[in-house]
Amino acid sequence: MFPASDWYHENFRENITSNILLDLTIFHLTSILYKPKWLSCKRLINLKESRVKQIATTLSNPNIALIKYWGNRDERLRIPSNGSISINLAGLETRTSVCFDPTLQQDTLTLNGASAGKTARERVSAFLNQVRIMSEVRSFAAVVSENNFPTGAGIASSASAFAALALAAAHAAGLQLSEQELSRLARRGSGSACRSIPGGFVEWFAGDNDETSFAESFAPAGHWALGDCIAIISHAHKSTGSTEGHATASTSLLQDTRIATTPTRLETCRRAILNRDFNSLAEVAELDSNLMHAVMITSQPPLLYWQPATLGIMQAVQKWRSGGLPCFYTIDAGPNVHVICLEDEIEQVTARLQRLPGVLQVRTATVGGPARLIM
Ligand code: PMV
Repeated sequence: MFPASDWYHENFRENITSNILLDLTIFHLTSILYKPKWLSCKRLINLKESRVKQIATTLSNPNIALIKYWGNRDERLRIPSNGSISINLAGLETRTSVCFDPTLQQDTLTLNGASAGKTARERVSAFLNQVRIMSEVRSFAAVVSENNFPTGAGIASSASAFAALALAAAHAAGLQLSEQELSRLARRGSGSACRSIPGGFVEWFAGDNDETSFAESFAPAGHWALGDCIAIISHAHKSTGSTEGHATASTSLLQDTRIATTPTRLETCRRAILNRDFNSLAEVAELDSNLMHAVMITSQPPLLYWQPATLGIMQAVQKWRSGGLPCFYTIDAGPNVHVICLEDEIEQVTARLQRLPGVLQVRTATVGGPARLIM
């Protein structure tokens, strides 16, 4: 749930003074609150018409990679060293509104109800520059974005953030982009974001330049009812972000071997998903996650994202699987563990995870659809 009305009262009334932020906040909150009392329809229609090409609100889901992306062959363009496969996570959402406005002196970013820090603002601004280059829009933009899940703790918040931003900014700038072009644009913000543009089960073709590196769905969300039970053992923002991490991947002696053997795992993973073969998927996804963490741990400087509770969950999940419960783990750049299971077993897996030491909370998700425009 987005705490829309609390957020409005705490942050909007007291702190926000600029007109554009006011308009955008109204627009953003309207997408959350059905027919809010304080907003007349006339005002909304005026707002939409006056900004018909400059304002948009979108929703996107994060994704969890089953075959991981780690390391870039081109850091600036975020062309990955290897292809990857992921599923979108319905239930976890980023909602983003963008408004280009000629009266703004700079791009602004409001993240989860608070004005974002310099680093996040500059990253978003650099991304918006891409959109300005591609379109006729030259003005700065106000961006308002919210997640209904912890940010920066291994739940791919940057994936849904840049997928939602790419779609909102492109639409607000009047660009008519195909899904492939949107995926390429989202990739420029955060590599894995290109996989949150299409829906369901998605493959990112590594490619070797901007045109050839994009993600595509190979099975719709309804193809296989899988669940993701995310054991959260820390809400803290990770100390080394993935952008920095990718840059160190090549310092590991293991990275070349991981890259050279990824095509085989991609093929096994794709086939396992298309055939709904849970055991093959479990084996290849755990292997691939372990390989990525082996690279991280052996990089210079070493990146060890796991905490003792992470390892406890990994061992428990393998034991549950040997005992007949179909489930497997996969871990991104953080200590939290994604436990993939059949949708019907979400309750059982969640109950088991909640009993393990160090598990603060379990968030659940099913297979999600594409990034979408909602206003
Ligand atoms: O898109 P980035 O730069 O946040 O990198 C994502 C890296 C992993 O989450 C660790 C793996 C993946 O493929 O999502």
